[in-house]
Amino acid sequence: MEPLELPVKILGVDLETFAAVDRFIGETIVGEDEALRGAVEVAEAAGLPSIQVSPPQGKLLQLLVRLLGARKILEFGTLGGYSSILMARALPEDGRLITLEAKAEYAEVARRSIERAGVADKVEVRVGPALEALPGLEEAGPFDLVFIDADKVNTPNYFAWALDHTRPGGLIVADNVVRGGTLGDATDPDEATKAQRRLHETLAGEGLVSATTIQTVGGKGYDGFLLALVQDA
Ligand code: SAH
Ligand code: DHB
Ligand code: MG
Repeated sequence: MEPLELPVKILGVDLETFAAVDRFIGETIVGEDEALRGAVEVAEAAGLPSIQVSPPQGKLLQLLVRLLGARKILEFGTLGGYSSILMARALPEDGRLITLEAKAEYAEVARRSIERAGVADKVEVRVGPALEALPGLEEAGPFDLVFIDADKVNTPNYFAWALDHTRPGGLIVADNVVRGGTLGDATDPDEATKAQRRLHETLAGEGLVSATTIQTVGGKGYDGFLLALVQDA
């Protein structure tokens, strides 16, 4: 996505207001410790883009891990390991998370932060384009939770694979499906947006999942999460 130009206003509210609300939520009910702040600082210092989930979104992922009683998680898109650390911390002692990252230098930054956060024994970072990693993951599943947050044009491809490798009662979450509201525009030419529209249209005829998309605003602007519960056939 292009960097947001300030002031971004949505319904007359600017991005700084969304960021302030995110900060307040973060400082009150979410809680973000040294290791998590450290992961963001280290990633920024290493030149990684600051596009990790916000602390409130990360806490939602943690609540979902706990609600699912998840023991096996697959993540597409590691970046600096922020969401990996959050989800790993919500896992039980014997829980495992595999996270896929295309860029070796990002994966290296993530591994160090994951180690520093004390969850290295639960998390495996695999380097390479996610589509190429999938054949090697046949034995690793079925997963309780799949979090899709990598290259957005491939979200439908990752989702299709996830559907075959998530247990009934498991959940597939995809970030960045609303894309500043372009999701609602059938004429939008952006390939990433077209991919999210196609995913929604495909799910309309898919009896295997019960799904919804929640639009979000926050310090990162206007976007949204798709949540899909995998049902018995
Ligand atoms: N989940 C992370 C943010 C991920 S940002 C968090 O919330 O902390 C998206 C990441 O996907 C980037 O690190 C990018 O390098 C990675 N990515 C892009 N294309 C990819 C691909 N084909 N396979 C795997 N990862 C990819
Ligand atoms: C981008 C990626 C993300 O996963 C996100 O949440 C925001 C932005 C990006 O590639 O620009
Ligand atoms: Mg994202």
